[in-house]
Amino acid sequence: MKLPDGPRMPIWLQTIQRIARPFEFFDELGKQYGDAFTLGDRNNSPTVYLSHPQAIKEIFSADPNLFESDHPIQAETIVGKYSVAMADGEVHKRQRRLLLPPFHGDRMRAYGQLICDITQQVMARRTIGETFLVRPVMEEITLRVMLQAVFGLHQGPRYEQLRELFGSFLETVDSTLKASLLFIPALRWDLGSWSPWGKFVRLQKQIDQLLYSEIQERRQSMDSERTDILTLLLMARDEAGQPMTDVELRDQLMTLLFAGHETTASALGLALHSLHYHPQINSKLESELDTIGIDTDLSLIAKFPYLTAVCQETLRLYPVTAHTNPRKLKAPLEIMGYQFDPGTVLIGLSYLTHQREDLYPQPKQFNPERFLERQFAPYEYLPFGGGYRGCIGMAFAQFEMKLVLATILSGWQLALVEQRPIKVVRHTATYAPPSSLRMVVTGQRQSQKVLSTV
Ligand code: HEM
Repeated sequence: MKLPDGPRMPIWLQTIQRIARPFEFFDELGKQYGDAFTLGDRNNSPTVYLSHPQAIKEIFSADPNLFESDHPIQAETIVGKYSVAMADGEVHKRQRRLLLPPFHGDRMRAYGQLICDITQQVMARRTIGETFLVRPVMEEITLRVMLQAVFGLHQGPRYEQLRELFGSFLETVDSTLKASLLFIPALRWDLGSWSPWGKFVRLQKQIDQLLYSEIQERRQSMDSERTDILTLLLMARDEAGQPMTDVELRDQLMTLLFAGHETTASALGLALHSLHYHPQINSKLESELDTIGIDTDLSLIAKFPYLTAVCQETLRLYPVTAHTNPRKLKAPLEIMGYQFDPGTVLIGLSYLTHQREDLYPQPKQFNPERFLERQFAPYEYLPFGGGYRGCIGMAFAQFEMKLVLATILSGWQLALVEQRPIKVVRHTATYAPPSSLRMVVTGQRQSQKVLSTV
């Protein structure tokens, strides 16, 4: 088997590049090696990054039984080995069947008002003239939304505690460097709560205690009428009629809280920067949002063409995961003439697919119009991955992004504190705006309350 060429670069140097200048690093690799390259060994398996639409199409349409998941140890330590993201084969299929419906259709749309209300509550705490850090504000909104979807509640002492602990927990792994250092077995010394590993395990224990208490209380007073995800998971039975164990439940809850809030928060931060860095695009969007009346259906807002195009363009230019999850081959597979052996890890590099001049002329430009002018196939535009492992929260995240943006832009006039291009950084598992990105509230807009009931 001849693998695509790639840099002979030690893993530690790749890691530094991916932390310090992630998108620039991918741009350079794309320029030098084209749309297929091998990037070092991952758990002793060659890892091949593919960005040609044909290659993406072949990965997404290949038989799922050819692959197994291949997450780094960091991911498993955080979300647990029973997570849907770790599972393979029949177990994976069953878990997806269970988890997908609450994030789609009417079940998803039922969260619309709550998304607007949470956004309103969080934004209403800002005063005119106040400068705020964008990332924590967006994270607060999306974590509250996820807590509601998962537990059916986003307020009360346990949820406040969970929200705070979750934030501190993510801080322990919020850069690749911290995460890498934390998960080097030789550095896993619990020297008290001030040592990195000690802090990590203590926070994880506290979060687990809260999750297990919630699971136990819910088991004891089961209310099958509730529509939150924990209730669904509690009622689920496998083929042998067995319910999920507490550990299995905990792992799914952690996965959804982890995968479901930071991704969307990063995307929202990048959208807010892009819009305010390009005031003419922002004005165009505001004009569309000004057509919203007190009776406008939220599902209709989520279909607004320009709002949709702005969200699509944000995730094209900044696909916040940059690539699909890794898929490790269990059997040989040919893709675009390359013969890959079992053990090879394949990754669809959405970032570079989205940078192709032939699909997206002047790809570095933030230009929502391109999504009004043509449609893109799922293997040309893939911020949520695709195929048997595609993102479970795809519809939900898009719906949430649109309603959060609509609520903020209808209610508040914002400006960037520093009018300069953004430097995307690695933040936990996503590529995100830097923690220093600040905006200022310059005024309120007339339609402030039109989208919320609070
Ligand atoms: C802008 C927001 C989001 C982006 C860009 C995003 C992106 C992705 C990507 C690229 C993958 C890997 C897909 C693949 O390998 O083909 C993924 C997987 C996943 N996402 Fe998302 N995601 C977002 C929001 C969410 C939300 C809100 C949830 C919560 C429901 C979620 C839950 C998951 C889960 C559970 C998986 C693993 C699926 C599996 O392994 O079968 N994501 N996401």
